[in-house]
Amino acid sequence: MTVHSLNTESLGARKPANISRSMSLEFVRVTEAAALAASRWMGKGDKNAADQAAVDAMRRALADIDMDGTIVIGEGEIDEAPMLYIGEKLGRGGQKLDLAVDPLEGTTITAKGGDNALAVIAAAEDGKFLHAPDTYMDKLAVGPAFDISAFSLDMTPAQIVQLAARQKGIGVDELVVCMLDKPRQQELIDAVRAAGARLRLIPDGDVSGAIACAVEDTGVDILLGRGGGPEGVLAAAALRCLGGGMLGRLYFRNDDERARARTMGITDLNKTYTTEELAGGEVIFAATGVTNGAMLKGVRKLHTGEYETESVVMRSKTRTVRWVRTRHAF
Ligand code: FBP
Repeated sequence: MTVHSLNTESLGARKPANISRSMSLEFVRVTEAAALAASRWMGKGDKNAADQAAVDAMRRALADIDMDGTIVIGEGEIDEAPMLYIGEKLGRGGQKLDLAVDPLEGTTITAKGGDNALAVIAAAEDGKFLHAPDTYMDKLAVGPAFDISAFSLDMTPAQIVQLAARQKGIGVDELVVCMLDKPRQQELIDAVRAAGARLRLIPDGDVSGAIACAVEDTGVDILLGRGGGPEGVLAAAALRCLGGGMLGRLYFRNDDERARARTMGITDLNKTYTTEELAGGEVIFAATGVTNGAMLKGVRKLHTGEYETESVVMRSKTRTVRWVRTRHAF
């Protein structure tokens, strides 16, 4: 009998991942649990109850994973959030991971039965997420068709849309800019329209807006405007996996917010963060639809009485994007 030695080089063996890839499915379970729990409150007008249900379910699911997880982006500081607070340790032990979570991204959307609410998690190696305080962040997100390094948050809205249109090889009037539809953004909304670009205004949920820039057929080209800082880190994690890019700069409304940022280790309050500075190293990102969206369908009840969820899970190392449809019998 001839024994052939197995040449792993010739089989294209790759360096082992820093985050075990089997974690991907674990994280889908986590976002599924949160989405299923939140969806029970869909359209019931109680955003806090929807959020609490998602938080409870996500925390239970995270506690069951073989990892040594630390919440870096979560529900807030320990004094304001008893669960999934910044610094909370979760898991049964194992690989050290930093976790950025938003058990329900779009609490008001869910309460009103609107579109695009998600349950979201991202995991990175120790120390690779920006410890973003719960303040606003000015954001520009783009998909893989754009070169984010050519943009700056100091450019005017007109300069940004003109450069984006040029990079994509389309007219400014064809460029679609996604933006949160909030009174604070009115000046920016007017400026983008005056520059000739189109707007996709969304009531909430700029993580899903940023992801839309990098997913085909959503009709969105770039995301611009001011949203939550923690959501900026989650969006950057997703864009790392999708080949997109992002710029983010924290925006502080008062000295309290500035002080909070300093206690979280932010020294340069005016810094513009790149995608890698927001979410660096190897990243896994997972999301499950709570309500229907352009990318993921929301939780739905089947005629059998079971529930179906749609999720996406992706890894920055390989840029693999998996779409997972799950039937839950319970
Ligand atoms: P919630 O899920 O906490 O309600 O956040 C939704 C959201 O729209 C985020 O997507 C966004 O980054 C942030 O709120 C914007 O904050 P604000 O509601 O103050 O405009």
